[in-house]
Amino acid sequence: MTVEEEIEELKSDYIICQCYEVSFGDIMEAIENGCSSIDEIMHQTHAGYGCERCQSRRDDANGDRDIHLSEILKYSKSKE
Ligand code: FES
Repeated sequence: MTVEEEIEELKSDYIICQCYEVSFGDIMEAIENGCSSIDEIMHQTHAGYGCERCQSRRDDANGDRDIHLSEILKYSKSKE
């Protein structure tokens, strides 16, 4: 399954950022409200300000998170 397919199957209450309990729905809402970069999503939702592993695969060396902010942002841009 590709990352895009995984994202399409996510429920809105799936937690993307465990440190701040930010859900997939929260991230998508931030994007729909105009956030167009990881920094803007972080600022709006507080996701990514803890361990930082949810930011991108590069920041998640141990693969602790399935889906990262960078992948959701890329996915949403591909749907525009
Ligand atoms: S899981 Fe998002 S900052 Fe730790």
